[in-house]
Amino acid sequence: MTLDQNRLRIALQKSGRLSTDCQQLLKGCGVKLNLREQRLIAHAENMPLDLLRVRDDDIPGLVMDGVVDLGIVGENVLEETVMERQATGQSAEYSVLKRLDFGGCRLSLAVSEEFDYQGPKSLEGKRIATSYPWLLKRYMDSQGVKFKSVMLNGSVEVAPRAGLADAICDLVSTGATLEANGLVETDVIYRSKAVLIQSANPLAANKQKVIDKLLPRIQGLQQARE
Ligand code: PRP
Ligand code: ZN
Ligand code: MG
Repeated sequence: MTLDQNRLRIALQKSGRLSTDCQQLLKGCGVKLNLREQRLIAHAENMPLDLLRVRDDDIPGLVMDGVVDLGIVGENVLEETVMERQATGQSAEYSVLKRLDFGGCRLSLAVSEEFDYQGPKSLEGKRIATSYPWLLKRYMDSQGVKFKSVMLNGSVEVAPRAGLADAICDLVSTGATLEANGLVETDVIYRSKAVLIQSANPLAANKQKVIDKLLPRIQGLQQARE
């Protein structure tokens, strides 16, 4: 079971906030999938299209390295990857085919309820736990505030209680996670939605044909939901 060069390759989040919406989107586009659990690659049965199911953080890099043709990912993860790759001299090229109408969230700073927060300056010299160090640094630089980044790939919201950090910078959707952990949102630093992105590599005509079929269908689905 390998990726066939003649089939359009799309990377999607395997499990998480975007995965159900992504599967619904493809289903709505008429893509018939045989999605058995735990499979990295899923083949469409009725068009030359393969899905690569991976961690969302890996999707922008897979597109930018041309390993896959398309990817669906949150703009937050995309922008973070662009900043990281530019800083480390890796190519960060891609194009946005479509901004999608799901996956809305914001990247925000939050502190514990007891923290006397008077604006970003209150975080001078403090430790901030995050999975998005580059977006956080850009915001703090814009505010002229120096801080220490504590990199965590998950469970960021427990960092203040665990004594690992003084504040966090994490994704907020409903706000339930912050509330459950006694945290208060202070600054929204980035607003995000899911986007469909394409590799900068030239695309074979047969793959372009699949995209030309899918895009109007996505457009139609989104219009129907408006
Ligand atoms: C984000 C974030 C919180 C949660 C917030 O995680 O890290 O845990 O969502 O959502 P809420 O405000 O509705 O409670 P996400 O599901 O994006 O996990 P991921 O980092 O694995 O993508
Ligand atoms: Zn196969
Ligand atoms: Mg993630």
